[in-house]
Amino acid sequence: MSVESPRYSLPHRVIHWIMAVAILIAIPGGVIMGKLPPGQMQNNVYDLHKSLGVLVLVLALIRIALKRRDGVPPPATGVEPWQTMAATSVHHALYALMVIVPLLGFVANSFYGAAIPFFWLFTIPTFTPHNEEIAGAIFSMHTALAILFGILLAVHIGAALYHRFIRKDAVFARMSLP
Ligand code: HEM
Repeated sequence: MSVESPRYSLPHRVIHWIMAVAILIAIPGGVIMGKLPPGQMQNNVYDLHKSLGVLVLVLALIRIALKRRDGVPPPATGVEPWQTMAATSVHHALYALMVIVPLLGFVANSFYGAAIPFFWLFTIPTFTPHNEEIAGAIFSMHTALAILFGILLAVHIGAALYHRFIRKDAVFARMSLP
């Protein structure tokens, strides 16, 4: 069956892909940074991870505002209703996680007492008292939800590639850049 569908707005698509690149670097960065030997390289990976997290948080808030303003295109025709429902549920969870995961990291980092050299351009200072016990508890939540985020992203990316390369329908083009 052929699938025709309108597309997300250009600003929404551009932000989607900037965020996708940022998140797909931030997640493996977060996994490896604690395992690196102490030194300048490890500091750089930590600072990159934190900068990407702040970027993702800001872009997620802009994206949610854009979505409220512009809405989303109607569901693609020719796609089963259960698939649309499943996709929408995953999208809602991704929206929640792309705010909550970096926000938890941001707050925990402040309790830990570390400033953020945002892409080495300027410094975002801490904004809470120094308390490593609270930092550790919030970091645990950050890590647990980041794992859930990774799992849902794998489902999301798998579904997108299935539409693009197996069904070869118009779903992928709803979010593609050109
Ligand atoms: C890695 C981080 C990513 C995040 C956080 C993310 C998040 C999202 C969200 C929340 C939506 C729903 C948009 C809305 O309803 O407003 C969406 C749509 C979409 N994403 Fe992603 N995405 C990511 C990566 C990817 C990748 C790597 C691909 C392709 C391989 C992809 C392909 C798509 C497509 C095709 C749609 C449109 C689906 C539709 O028709 O509704 N995404 N993405």
